Amino acid sequence: MNNRKSVGNNHSMCVQPTFLIGTYDLDGIVNFAPITWVSVTWDTDHYMLVISMFGTKKTKQNVIKTKKLSANLVSTDMLYLLDYFGGNSGKNGLKDHIEYGYSDGEVVNVPTLDLSKWVYECEVQKIVQTGDSDTFFCDVKNVQISSDLDITDGIDLTKFDPVVYSGHYHSIGKHLGKVGDFKPKK
Ligand SMILES: Cc1cc2nc3c(=O)[nH]c(=O)nc-3n(C[C@H](O)[C@H](O)[C@H](O)COP(=O)(O)O)c2cc1C
Repeated sequence: MNNRKSVGNNHSMCVQPTFLIGTYDLDGIVNFAPITWVSVTWDTDHYMLVISMFGTKKTKQNVIKTKKLSANLVSTDMLYLLDYFGGNSGKNGLKDHIEYGYSDGEVVNVPTLDLSKWVYECEVQKIVQTGDSDTFFCDVKNVQISSDLDITDGIDLTKFDPVVYSGHYHSIGKHLGKVGDFKPKK
């Protein structure tokens, strides 16, 4: 006998690093919004981000029109941006009630958040619709990381200090080891 109970199907163990998605509209108006349904897959020779958005949010409208977006990893010092951008819609005008810095991507024409320690610059390759949601399969055209961080020997997440989201915000704990460190010894 296991020690579990059924709780229905309307729950998601959606433990996600949090990203702020940056877009321009066709007039060049900037917008950022939190989107945490972000995953990764592989094309033949490059990574793809898989990003899902429901409803009719401004970010989704922008991505459908321009086919371009940035995904800016949110670290714990950026929580105020997360709550501000998530609590307002670009459909109601510019989100300019707080100050933040952004600059253009180096490869793709997208806004990128100056505070973010890891930024993807992406172009949409394919869109899949399911009900109220659109899922964007995006070619990763460039990754920018904080200039004081080094990922040559792998990514130490503690240095990126991401906000992890699963309905509530969390930070990550300690570094536990590398793949293989916990193999049972025969
Ligand atoms: C922490 C957090 C995570 C979110 N994740 C998603 C998501 O994965 N997909 C989505 O469609 N909306 C998500 N949202 C909702 C949008 O961010 C929110 O509707 C926002 O106001 C949209 O802004 P926009 O209209 O300017 O794009 C999330 C909101 C928060 C606060």
